Amino acid sequence: MAQLADEPTHDPDPDPDPDPGSHDVDTARPRRHHASGRRGTDDAAFRHEELYASPPPWDTGLPQPAFLALADAGLLHGRVLDVGCGTGEHTLMAARFGLEATGVDLATNALDLAVKKAEVRGLTARFVRHDALRLADLGERFDVVLDSLVFHGFRDKDRAAYTASLRTATKSGGRYFMLCFRDEPPNPSGRTHRLTPEEIRTAFADGWRIDAVEPVTIACTLPAHSDGIRGWRTALTRN
Ligand SMILES: C[S@@+](CC[C@H](N)C(=O)[O-])C[C@H]1O[C@@H](n2cnc3c(N)ncnc32)[C@H](O)[C@@H]1O
Repeated sequence: MAQLADEPTHDPDPDPDPDPGSHDVDTARPRRHHASGRRGTDDAAFRHEELYASPPPWDTGLPQPAFLALADAGLLHGRVLDVGCGTGEHTLMAARFGLEATGVDLATNALDLAVKKAEVRGLTARFVRHDALRLADLGERFDVVLDSLVFHGFRDKDRAAYTASLRTATKSGGRYFMLCFRDEPPNPSGRTHRLTPEEIRTAFADGWRIDAVEPVTIACTLPAHSDGIRGWRTALTRN
């Protein structure tokens, strides 16, 4: 079931790479072929859809191995929220493990694909068009929150708003698992989503216990990164 209410939107990347080409591996954002000509909320909504205008490199058609390992290890339970779910691979992974799974994203085209995948795979999952920065508006709390490659797209005040939003959606004692790019090697341009462990620890200093920040490999479809991309898998518990 997809609920496609028209939510307020926030732009996770206010400074998209203007160079021509396909997706930018560091920002996970499509490089622009043309100016959208849209502004404000409308423009932000358009950008989320634009991410899926061509198959994006993170959308491998499978869950990220680093998240599948969590499910295999029995670390997912109860009500699971997949924030920024895209086409729903991790929501559907949780559903496949028999869990009550909800995916939220702002990209309607991605959510439509997620709903179709659920039908084809015979899985029950809920997909909702909703802003990750306004999870309190869902009025629900989850035992486990999954975040594959979403957190690292927020900077500055949006990052703080996102972690506050996550706090409202996670039960006390609930777990939050997050995948992001790793700052190895550091990028001198500074305009990437590659994070240091310190950035992660700082962002979650308030209201969370950090259980682990581990190096993992992030799968993608880019031929130049057929061995994957260096990432962190962070495990946290909500106080
Ligand atoms: C790099 S993609 C990862 C998608 C998915 N988690 C996966 O691993 O396949 C980031 C996703 O976050 C979504 N997103 C970014 N900002 C958002 C926001 N404020 N609210 C909801 N979704 C958001 C994007 O639309 C996109 O689908």
